[in-house]
Order: sequence, then C-alpha cells, then structure tokens
Amino acid sequence: MTDLLPKHVAIIMDGNGRWAKARRLPRTMGHKKGVDTTKAIVRHAGKIGIEYLTLYAFSTENWSRPEDEINDLMGLLRVFLKSEAADLHKNNVRLRVIGARDRLSDDIVKMIENVEGMTADNTGLNLNVALDYGGRQEILKAVNDAVKLGNLIDEETFSNMLFTTDIPDPDVLIRTSGEMRISNFLLWQCAYTEFVFSDVLWPDFSTDELNKAISEYQNRDRRYGRVESN
Ligand code: FPP
Repeated sequence: MTDLLPKHVAIIMDGNGRWAKARRLPRTMGHKKGVDTTKAIVRHAGKIGIEYLTLYAFSTENWSRPEDEINDLMGLLRVFLKSEAADLHKNNVRLRVIGARDRLSDDIVKMIENVEGMTADNTGLNLNVALDYGGRQEILKAVNDAVKLGNLIDEETFSNMLFTTDIPDPDVLIRTSGEMRISNFLLWQCAYTEFVFSDVLWPDFSTDELNKAISEYQNRDRRYGRVESN
C-alpha cells in the first residue's frame, strides 16, 4: 500500500457519446461537455500536485468515425488549443502532444507547435494530449527507427524512441464509462501500471471521481513482479 500521490496519471476519457444519447442530444454535445470535464480535471491535477497527466483525446482508430464527428472533435480541439493556451501557460503547465501529426490539418499542427513552444520551459504539470495516437503504431515506428540504427538496443533506449521520451511510465491508468480495455493506449508504457475503472461517463467525471480513483490506486500493492515486502 502506498499513500504516495501517483506521479503520472493517464486517462482514457470514454463515454461522451453515451452521455449525449441518454439525453437525446447529438454526440457532439457529449464531446463538448467532455471538454469541460477535461479542463476541470487538468486544473485539479495541477492543483493537487500530479506531475504528469496523459489524456487520450483521439486514437488512430477514431479516424474511422463519421466525418462529421471527426470534424466536430477537431473543431473542439482547435477551440481548446486557442482558448486554453494562455491559461495553461499562466498556470505553469507544459503541454505536449503525442501521436502522429501527418493526418492532422496544418493549422492544428501549427497551433500545437505554438503551444508546445510557448510552454516548453514550464515546470508545473506536464500535460500530454494523445492525438492520432496508437500504441502499436508507436511501437512499430520505434522498431523501424531501431532497425535503421542497425544495432541491438536496451529498454531505456527503446523507451526514449517512443513519443513519450523523458516522460515516466504511468503509475495509474483510469478509464471511465465502465469499459475495461486498453484500446491501443500506451501499450509499452503500461507494463506495470495500475488500472482503475470508473463507471462514470467522462462528461460526468468530477474532481471527486479523480480523487476516488487516486485513493483506489493508493490502496494497491505494487510489487512489480516481486514478492510482498514486510
Ligand atoms: C470517448 O467518447 C471520447 C472521445 C473519442 C474523445 C475524447 C475527447 C474529448 C473529451 C474532448 C477533446 C479533448 C481535448 C483535449 C480537446 P466516445 O465518443 O467514445 O463515447 P461512447 O463510447 O459513449 O460512444
């Protein structure tokens, strides 16, 4: 058991669609409310002293959603980057976007580069947004880079070839909405991560729910394959 605050919290923000459906609203409204939750959780994570927060915003598989929904999600991302940039910077947050960028619109890539550049020296919360991110694709890319290097590599070198270079592995991965799978998120990085599942849909996920998930993590006994220590 550990009372230690997790250094790195990763979240699969799930359930926006179901939240909207339950209210007979279009799915976009669920995503919109989901962004409000995201902002509140980012603020809270910084406030309680989490060092790294990694959020799954758009997976490589999400490109197969209806075009309208993809456009809505990209629109929300634009608004998020534009309206939150100054605030994140003011709050000493360092933003990094992990994932491929070649399928994103040029204007979004530019906005990402701007915010990343502006916040690069910030020393508060490290906020990582996974966008067009897929764990298998990330691993394959690193493998291909390693093959090009032409020599055998160790775990540390391989870790540093992933999008998450310099970011410690997550201590806890939270998934909302009652789903219990990893969905191609941080496959290499989650080797020893504790998983916490919440039935709450992402738009309803509150700061209290985050605190609850952290407490659940703190009650776990992390052994990393070793035997229990007395
Ligand atoms: C899952 O709900 C959520 C997503 C695919 C997108 C997550 C994105 C946000 C919360 C907003 C964007 C974030 C930022 C940083 C701007 P779902 O649509 O899979 O819900 P369902 O499983 O109920 O259909």
